[in-house]
Amino acid sequence: MVYVTRKMHFSASHRLYNPTFEPEKNNLIFDKCNNLNGHGHNYTLEVTVKGVPDPETGYVIDLKYLRDLLDLHIVDKVDHKHLNYDVDFLQGIIPTAENIAVSFWRILDPKIVQGKLHSIKLFESDQNFVEYFGDPITIPIYTTVESN
Ligand code: NI
Repeated sequence: MVYVTRKMHFSASHRLYNPTFEPEKNNLIFDKCNNLNGHGHNYTLEVTVKGVPDPETGYVIDLKYLRDLLDLHIVDKVDHKHLNYDVDFLQGIIPTAENIAVSFWRILDPKIVQGKLHSIKLFESDQNFVEYFGDPITIPIYTTVESN
């Protein structure tokens, strides 16, 4: 098995809060990330596909194809956007790096047919990143998205 990775960058803003919490509790848990008007990150996304190289091309997956797939389905949807408001597939989800990574997996996994999606690694900064390997996870969707 060979692991092939494509790295992408995007910039986006978000606000972390749980609409079912009182403002004090949101401040306590999310602190500066709960800033009313959001705050931004320069994200780095690493998507790894595993497989056996095709005997005729030597590719597990054509990296140009993977790049175009990521541009179309992920980067174009989130780059320079507010993740709480502008992104259809994140509506009602607390947009932590964890939940964003899982959401990206759900979009990409069925679209990768050459090789198999192995991992999604999402850096919120050089110091902080999450990695997801596709284990089943339930992410709550909060229908109340009003600020509090
Ligand atoms: Ni943040």
